[in-house]
Amino acid sequence: MDSLVIQGGTRLRGEVNINGAKNAALPIMAACLLTTEECVIRSVPDLVDVRHLISLLESLGAKVRRDENGALRIKVEDESNSLADYESVRKMRASICVLGPLLAKRGSAEVSMPGGCAIGDRPINLHLRGMEALGGSLSLASGNIVADARQLQGTDIFLGGAYGSSVLATANIMSAASLARGRTVIESAACEPEIVDLGNFLNSMGAKVSGHGSHRITIEGVEQLHGTDYTVIPDRIEAGTFMVAAAITNGELVLKNCRTEHLMAMIDRMQLIGVEIETVGDDIRVSSARRLNPVDVTTQPYPGFPTDLQAQLMALLCLADGNSIITEKIFPDRFMHTAELGRMGAVLRKEGPTVIVQGVRELIGAPVMASDLRASAALVLAGMVARGETTVLRVYHIDRGYERIEEKLNAVGAQIRRVKE
Ligand code: EPZ
Repeated sequence: MDSLVIQGGTRLRGEVNINGAKNAALPIMAACLLTTEECVIRSVPDLVDVRHLISLLESLGAKVRRDENGALRIKVEDESNSLADYESVRKMRASICVLGPLLAKRGSAEVSMPGGCAIGDRPINLHLRGMEALGGSLSLASGNIVADARQLQGTDIFLGGAYGSSVLATANIMSAASLARGRTVIESAACEPEIVDLGNFLNSMGAKVSGHGSHRITIEGVEQLHGTDYTVIPDRIEAGTFMVAAAITNGELVLKNCRTEHLMAMIDRMQLIGVEIETVGDDIRVSSARRLNPVDVTTQPYPGFPTDLQAQLMALLCLADGNSIITEKIFPDRFMHTAELGRMGAVLRKEGPTVIVQGVRELIGAPVMASDLRASAALVLAGMVARGETTVLRVYHIDRGYERIEEKLNAVGAQIRRVKE
């Protein structure tokens, strides 16, 4: 397992190009199962999670290749195997997003129940409720969901869960309903930009999706869908991560190819902290003030503050002048990074779904353990400002969601070395 060795203390300066969004690409790639024509998807980053989904799609009968321009070309040629096994799902919980497309296009699917992960329990009751509402008959067999449906029927589905909407459950139902007979209305749907992107992708295949981006999405089922050529949106979470990188190192970065309207909640918190943010078209210029104000932040479904930026903002708030309060309303256990930040001198107190961050003057480099994708990014951010050397172990977590993060950071002044073990 690789580690990243980080020398703290350099200020980042320069331009960073933001990649296509992992969380838009994954459900869009799964939706290619809805047709046997070729789909071309552009701006898909080369991530471990993307490679995992490519392997899964190949096991489900798709030919997948990157062309000379880096675009993903996906074409289903064999629909005989519809099993997404535990080995695939265990590696990446988002594999669940093949359930809806398989059931709608092939009339059957067998997908392993995803286990939990570092950010907590990952139930799929809303996914299953949606598939049953559309007419799927589901059963559980040795840890796998077995789903069958001769022909899915459009219906009205309320998708609200204990923690609000579900992004991938919304994606699964949108995809399945695209080939159902009749109209489907999803009430309390997820509003994330990645859901908007999936709706636009499905429509480019000939689907009839409307209202995506609002809490009510309507899908008029069609007989079949055709191939398409589509470019996924920029990754708002990668952009937010690099906003913190500029602020925490007291540097100045220009982030290219962003969608500032997807980052309003992050920009709001960063400006309250005292970070200077200037948006010029699709670029965001971030430069830090010497002094960081403490703030309160609570994670919410979009357009609220994203849970995927909670760990990164916590790293920054460790150095604010005063106490900040961070409350996690989406994944209440998503605090694996607090103990590791504590090893670097951060003063954090966890009270249930809330962490009180008492600002300190400096962080001290130390060996720390990556746990989940975003917590690992937070440790890299802390390591860049800490005094001395920080070693982040098990960085395969980072590689799941960031394409060669150390190369991007070193190109703007960081001192990070990848050590292969
Ligand atoms: C997506 O996961 C993202 N992953 C996550 O990003 C992100 O943190 C999450 O949405 C929330 O924004 C991808 O898009 C691949 P949810 P998803 O279903 O869809 C509960 C990252 O770091 N819930 O919206 O799996 C669930 O437990 C990853 O890139 C149910 O109760 O998340 C959570 O508390 C991590 N029942 C809340 O809803 C269900 O059936 C939101 O989860 C499904 C979810």
